[in-house]
Amino acid sequence: MNKTIRLAIVIGSNRRESINRQLAEAMARLLPANFEVSYPQIDDLPLYNLDLEGERPASVNRFTDEIRAVDAVFIITPEHNRSLPAVLKNAIDWGSKPMDKNVWFGKPVAITGTSPGAIGTALVQQHLRQIMGILGSVVMGGEAYLQFRPGLITESGDIGPDSHDFIKAYLDRFVSLVEKLAA
Ligand code: FNR
Repeated sequence: MNKTIRLAIVIGSNRRESINRQLAEAMARLLPANFEVSYPQIDDLPLYNLDLEGERPASVNRFTDEIRAVDAVFIITPEHNRSLPAVLKNAIDWGSKPMDKNVWFGKPVAITGTSPGAIGTALVQQHLRQIMGILGSVVMGGEAYLQFRPGLITESGDIGPDSHDFIKAYLDRFVSLVEKLAA
């Protein structure tokens, strides 16, 4: 039995019926049994404000402790106006400060996302790669842009047959990277 790997899946949407949350939960079903998945909450974090650094709000400490404790992070996000949803950028900003406690540093990170638009979150993913790279994460190369169409996720919540092999291959590459770094 392989060592337990703790994986935080950060979903860049605060929408109840989020298609990115649906995607995240469907993808999590394809992970090996030794992957322990959590979904850190980000929609209750206050807007980043340096004035709050003296005594960080409890929700911020909860979030940064969660990220610090995991072996790897998968960010699954919609694109808002060709970039990051504010709720996601806010969470990343909290995690990045103070600089000597940046929780993203050295963390293996994979990125994907879905939207009904034809380019399937390509631009937010580019922005995220830049941000996470600057923060010192080990960002997995390659790309997975997923247009949200009927059948991407089945009624029972699995990845649909047309996209299954592509998504599984992307996940497998991340699993292999994380296993190597955790060894
Ligand atoms: C969007 N949407 C969108 N889609 C896209 O492909 N590129 C974009 O730049 C944008 N911009 C954008 C801005 C704002 C403010 C909103 C609210 C929406 C549409 C977006 O992909 C769609 O709402 C998805 O359903 C969002 O994913 P979740 O929240 O359902 O996971």
